[in-house]
Amino acid sequence: LNDNNLKFLSQHKLFEGKANTAYYLPDIHNNGYAYVGLGNKENLNQEIIRKSYFTLGQVLINNNIEEARLQVPELDMCYEDLGEAIAEGLLQATYRFNKYKSDKEDLVSTKISFILNKNEEAFFKGVCEAKNLIKGIFTTRNLVNEPANTIYPESLAEEAINILSPLGVNVKVYNMKEIEELGMEAFLSVGRASSREPRLIVMEYMNNKDSSELLAFVGKGVTYDAGGLAIKPASSMATMFSDMGGAGTVIGAMEAIASAQLKVNVISVVAACENMVAGNSYKNGDIINSMSKKTIEILNTDAEGRLTLADAVYYASNNLNATKLVDLATLTGACVGAFGFEVTASVTNNDDFFKEVNSASLKAGEMIWKMPNIPYYKDMNKSKVADLKNIGGQYGGMITAGLFVGEFVKENTPWVHLDIAGTSYLDAPSGYLPAFATGVMVKTLYYLAKEQ
Ligand code: BES
Ligand code: MN
Ligand code: ZN
Repeated sequence: LNDNNLKFLSQHKLFEGKANTAYYLPDIHNNGYAYVGLGNKENLNQEIIRKSYFTLGQVLINNNIEEARLQVPELDMCYEDLGEAIAEGLLQATYRFNKYKSDKEDLVSTKISFILNKNEEAFFKGVCEAKNLIKGIFTTRNLVNEPANTIYPESLAEEAINILSPLGVNVKVYNMKEIEELGMEAFLSVGRASSREPRLIVMEYMNNKDSSELLAFVGKGVTYDAGGLAIKPASSMATMFSDMGGAGTVIGAMEAIASAQLKVNVISVVAACENMVAGNSYKNGDIINSMSKKTIEILNTDAEGRLTLADAVYYASNNLNATKLVDLATLTGACVGAFGFEVTASVTNNDDFFKEVNSASLKAGEMIWKMPNIPYYKDMNKSKVADLKNIGGQYGGMITAGLFVGEFVKENTPWVHLDIAGTSYLDAPSGYLPAFATGVMVKTLYYLAKEQ
């Protein structure tokens, strides 16, 4: 490399090698050099590499670079992780959701070849992993960014089939009548007022015959949340097409897992419906049943996600015999209030399983935080007239909502709940996450499956 360039750039404070920075120095033949900063070696990790190469990717795109030879830095780390981080960072820079824009930017597609002197095989294994992950992440983003006039229960189910069945995932879709036969009254109560019929989407990826373990992902699939009769104000309703973020995440994760042909058994369940307003809406004050036969007093029709999840997690743990279960949901505003947009909140019934999920999330660079699970919060969900009520009270709403879902997981099934209300959809970009749908937790689910 040309050291004079680096001296020049540093003297002029244009590029000093700080993490997350990149600089393109063209020459008159348009054969320039691009530099990427990684910061201090002591602080370096997979996530900093992702972020830094994302910045480099943006610089390459902004300068319309058609071809680049990339000198891989010599680092003292696992080269599979290095390949994953570099490739993921670069690929993250290519995401756009502009299908509804008449004026689309011309996005250059840069051909990149990697130059490295050691551990090639491991490195390119990591590059392949990044490609599979990015496919899943972009799928999630695309599904979540679609408005509710294009993604509704039936079309979401069709997308799941189109995306996953070519990869060897068996996708079964249950219609309203079949959902009634299963006795999913909580789920059906939420979806009843919509002219779009609900769908139960079950995705099965069984790729380890020698294992009796069955990992289950359950994603909240409220394709639109108007709040029901407890209707939301217009300002908070406008983005509620993204209330199927959990569903989008599990579909994207299934795609990544199946693309990588991981040797695991994973099922995903989505109870997809719309929470709307009509003459037949379920009402505040109703007492409804559920597939588990636990009765629920409805105190607020806008606390609908936990009702759809109640039947979905019951079905996954009880009927499909999941041995471990993660549910993901854009469940509460309280979660956003407590954590903002960077950290996914969690509750669990099993600290060992939480540790597994947590270590997958650390590898993924997707932060999660465990909330307390003490009887105090569980008791807040008790109703005076039914077994449970669908709001715990004014305070602790993230925890009580999560624990409500946990009431429907089969006894002794390790379970982790992830509230992605803040992290799955952003107003503004953050690091390599774009504005709007982020696709967070696809990587966490993938690494969790990989470690089974
Ligand atoms: N889908 C919302 C939660 C949400 C809010 C997600 C903001 C993303 C951003 C959920 O169904 C909801 O309406 N929750 C209510 C519960 C309340 C009525 C107990 C909430 O958090 O306000
Ligand atoms: Mn709601
Ligand atoms: Zn909702």
